[in-house]
Amino acid sequence: MAEPTVEPAPEIRVRRMHRRDINRAWEFLKRVFRDIHAETVEYQRPRSKARFEEQYDEEGVEQLVFEVKSDIVGYAECSFEVLGDDNWINPRYFDNREMRPMFIEELASHPDYQGRGVGSFMIEQLMHLARVRGCTHLVLEVAENNENALSFYRKRQFYKLDASIFLAKKIPVEPELLPPRKLPRRGRPAASGDREKPKREKKPKSDG
Ligand SMILES: CC(C)(COP(=O)(O)OP(=O)(O)OC[C@H]1O[C@@H](n2cnc3c(N)ncnc32)[C@H](O)[C@@H]1OP(=O)(O)O)[C@@H](O)C(=O)NCCC(=O)NCCS
Repeated sequence: MAEPTVEPAPEIRVRRMHRRDINRAWEFLKRVFRDIHAETVEYQRPRSKARFEEQYDEEGVEQLVFEVKSDIVGYAECSFEVLGDDNWINPRYFDNREMRPMFIEELASHPDYQGRGVGSFMIEQLMHLARVRGCTHLVLEVAENNENALSFYRKRQFYKLDASIFLAKKIPVEPELLPPRKLPRRGRPAASGDREKPKREKKPKSDG
């Protein structure tokens, strides 16, 4: 009897993203974040393809693709300084604490591969890169209700920095438009001449 063939374990490889990968990487990210963006206040990025393309040309950004054969199964992006004028991170926070952070701007593994070690490999790669570049910390932002990602990071010794959280308070609303109102019944409009003359009050007769 023929032996059942066992598929060899897939091999994952990392390389720097090329310009020709931009479309595929963008489609990959849209796929990964589709459901997550339906649940989070803040974009977990990317915001637009144009911005994603711009980043390719920016200095100080590393964009890494992780592939099994020729399929993208993971994407990681990091930078060594606070990038972009829409960034809310205050670099002095880190300077004052003598931290040299490496910012993880993006970490995503394909849904079909989640739970198979792609994320762990990506973090290991980023830790390696951070060490080689002389950084002291990995820093990232994650939505509190992205529970999968949060527990993934916590298990890997990421801890919470002093960071803002989204607060909301419900405002009791009154409708802007007034409620319906009864109008007087339709009748002949009173003309001014028709108006009843006010009756003179009779003077009470005096008795004497
Ligand atoms: C967070 C994320 C990068 C982790 O990647 P991953 O490839 O699933 O990582 P791993 O396989 O190495 O580890 C996943 C962990 O979840 C567990 N797991 C089990 N089944 C799982 C499943 N179906 N899906 C996800 N995780 C699963 C794994 O056992 C592992 O547990 P561990 O933390 O005890 O090791 C990935 O879930 C992801 O891309 N999420 C969507 C994008 C996102 O939220 N990115 C972070 C934004 S800041």
